[in-house]
Amino acid sequence: TGYASAKEGHDKFLIIGHRGVSGLAPEHTFPSYDLVKKQKGDYIEIDIQMTKDGKLVAMHDTSVDRTTNGTGEVRDKTLEEIKQLDAGSWFNKKYPEYAKPEYNGLKVPTLEEIFQRYGRDAHYYIETKSPDVYPGMEEKLLNLLKKYKLTGQNEESSHVIIQSFSKDSLVKVHKLDPSIPLVQLLWYEKNANGQYAEDTGLTSTPSDLKDSELEEISQYAEGIGMNYSDDGQVFLDKSFVQKARNHGLWVHPYTVNSEQDMKMLLDWGATGMFTNFSGKLYSIYKQY
Ligand code: G3P
Ligand code: CA
Repeated sequence: TGYASAKEGHDKFLIIGHRGVSGLAPEHTFPSYDLVKKQKGDYIEIDIQMTKDGKLVAMHDTSVDRTTNGTGEVRDKTLEEIKQLDAGSWFNKKYPEYAKPEYNGLKVPTLEEIFQRYGRDAHYYIETKSPDVYPGMEEKLLNLLKKYKLTGQNEESSHVIIQSFSKDSLVKVHKLDPSIPLVQLLWYEKNANGQYAEDTGLTSTPSDLKDSELEEISQYAEGIGMNYSDDGQVFLDKSFVQKARNHGLWVHPYTVNSEQDMKMLLDWGATGMFTNFSGKLYSIYKQY
């Protein structure tokens, strides 16, 4: 059987604002997150790191070098030190066409500040980044979700999806709170033989991930998220997407920024996409 595009229910198509609307504003800052709802995105995607004094902050890299005016590893800095950094100016320099004066001097938000700002008015798609570098990260995350009442037994009450490349991290979360929907991230890259292989312990190429592997993932996760192309070469296909969906898994490719690829992945039955341009995906999906 083939699945059409995901329109409703458990498989409702999700527009996931990757690091916010990070094509138009500095990633993982409030202006970027604010745009997700304005541009009809369903979830704010947040990567988390942990400071030296144990605070969860929103940042993609383990180091502050790329997205702030500072240098060094997040784990070696206190929150007070992180808060002195400018997390917006780099964007104005790199993307003059989207630059705005108000992006200069933006602060790195803590996860708690994000929950205080949006509360239950938003949905959060949170990635435990480098969980092996940050022991205790999952417990801290779950405590915050509880404090801000973002978890729940059904779709109505649940405002969060947790994603990770680390199966261990997901299994840990699953044990701590089995009600939280989880997504196993996958990363494919060319191996020495020039073939695409997955690097998280699964053995297959994208188009022939084994049924047994998909079955194993479905024991703890609701879905999978994967890079769908590399160096301009697309290596997923419709039969892979359908195969994963036959196991009841959501399929959320990342990071989809062109109209052409959005349409292609919709045709294949993807149940959501990570994108830096939520508004573009919304208008494509609406016409679909
Ligand atoms: O979380 C989905 C996607 O964001 C994974 O890649 O490196 O952008 O976190 P990355
Ligand atoms: Ca991510």
